Amino acid sequence: MTASLTVADVMHKPAVVVPTSITLAEASVILDGANVGAAAVLDPQGRLRGMISERDLLRSVGHGIDPATAQVEEVMTKNPVTVSVSDTVEKGLEVFRERRFRHLPVMDGERVAGILSIRHVVRVAHIEDVQPAGSAPPGLAPRGLEGVAVAETSVGDVRGEEGFFHYRGYNAVELARRCSFEQVWHLLVEGELPDDAQLKAFTKLAVEARSLPDPVADMLPRIAALPGYTPLMALRSAVSIAGAALEQQPTLDIPADEVRRECLKMASIVPVLLMRLHRHHLGLEPVEPDEDLGYVGAYIQMLTGERPSQRAIRALEQYLILTMDHGFNSSTFTARVITSTGSDIGSALTGAIGALAGPLHGGAPSRALAMLDAIGTPDKAEEYLRHEISSGERLMGFGHRVYKTDDPRSTLLRDVAIELGGPQAEFAVQVEQTALRVLNELKPGRRLYTNVEFYAGVVMNSVGIPPDMFTPTFASSRTVGWTAAIAEQAANNRLIRPSALYVGPQPPRPLPDGYGAALKGAELAR
Ligand code: ACO
Repeated sequence: MTASLTVADVMHKPAVVVPTSITLAEASVILDGANVGAAAVLDPQGRLRGMISERDLLRSVGHGIDPATAQVEEVMTKNPVTVSVSDTVEKGLEVFRERRFRHLPVMDGERVAGILSIRHVVRVAHIEDVQPAGSAPPGLAPRGLEGVAVAETSVGDVRGEEGFFHYRGYNAVELARRCSFEQVWHLLVEGELPDDAQLKAFTKLAVEARSLPDPVADMLPRIAALPGYTPLMALRSAVSIAGAALEQQPTLDIPADEVRRECLKMASIVPVLLMRLHRHHLGLEPVEPDEDLGYVGAYIQMLTGERPSQRAIRALEQYLILTMDHGFNSSTFTARVITSTGSDIGSALTGAIGALAGPLHGGAPSRALAMLDAIGTPDKAEEYLRHEISSGERLMGFGHRVYKTDDPRSTLLRDVAIELGGPQAEFAVQVEQTALRVLNELKPGRRLYTNVEFYAGVVMNSVGIPPDMFTPTFASSRTVGWTAAIAEQAANNRLIRPSALYVGPQPPRPLPDGYGAALKGAELAR
């Protein structure tokens, strides 16, 4: 495509530059005046220190940072990846594709000679050659549907650049800080925060809905004894059986209030199924949920057989609220696709659990905890973390596809872990600080921050949840989000049936000469 073109031919020059010490408001005036999306940040000696972009400004404002007082160096991308004036445009394209930046500083030796924008590169490239992250040939959505809105929802949303997510417009972190599990559950599935009377009635219904149909309870010991038992696969099977035992009808054939009733039933029995399966698997008697306990208290009580402390309940409650929903993630999408066929709620939840079971989605908070165990003591952290990154390994609990700033869930869970106290929380904070420093040094410009999983394991461990129940616990709270999505899809349904771009051999292909003759003979002989 652009074989003879170099970065110098297409970059914006001279580079728009700003000093480290000006405020965000002043920087935005400079970006605006030059009509560019990003500027290079230089120190007083004229050396490149970072990049500041419109996205950084947006994210800072989203975080409540005051643009009139905050300085550029506080929010810029430090030690940015660079390209050289003599690099080819293909090289520039490769960097955009791999690193997912939109602007790169172009260096001529030590001097910043210009800024290369993804737009410059795309403009000179043929479309089939380009396909940077988020784009695709005409008629084809980007791989993985990244950045494609495929439905309207009023359940909630994630704003990755701002480090913010919400449920029905309310900041999810604020909900987790101030509300109970049942209040947020009501918000997600009924659409509004409940008043006292509504909360009382909803909680009563949710407690009553915990009862398991006898045929389901009878089958659980057999599921728990399956050779390939994992808690999530067992839950998936049990949910499927529960849907059948409850004689669930296609959502297409039932009114909206019945859909919501069945959703409440399923979200209420998921913890019961999980804990019964867990205890059967360990050869222990199941524990009936205590009617006096809400969702979270009963969750721990069914696991351990003991009434948990208020402190433990509140800590777990905050984690569970934070993980109820998270935009149009893969399992939520799966639940909606299945519901869009008019299928029953048990089927939609079974599919959603299957999607969550994949390592690319359900993650592994236990791996972050295992990393802490492997490090052992604070003095070993630096060496361990450097060694991991240098050998191409990833630090568990860091980095995120959507959040390119602090994951708001990790920020709250850090507070929760610290409040719970204990040596493990203290150690995790030390490891986190070292990890962020080492990542910034060894992976500059990648925007790697702590994700939800890092402190999730610490919090769950502190309240007595064993590591193999970490992801199932996530599944339990996410069932609330799935059911909200199912009810929304069923209430305003259209079959989700996309198409694919065929890239196989040119049709119609003639069958090879004589092919099929033998089969025909054999068929005739039958
Ligand atoms: N440790 C070290 N380097 C990392 C990490 C990490 N945790 N995450 C990303 N990087 C580096 C990559 O090596 C890559 O570097 P390179 O440019 O030198 O090749 C660069 O950052 C970009 O990586 P991508 O794979 O493009 O980032 P992506 O956005 O696709 O990855 C993911 C997101 C999968 C979460 C990744 O950060 C990761 O593997 N983290 C560790 C596992 C983890 O914590 N998972 C839980 C995620 S939260 C959840 O699922 C609910």
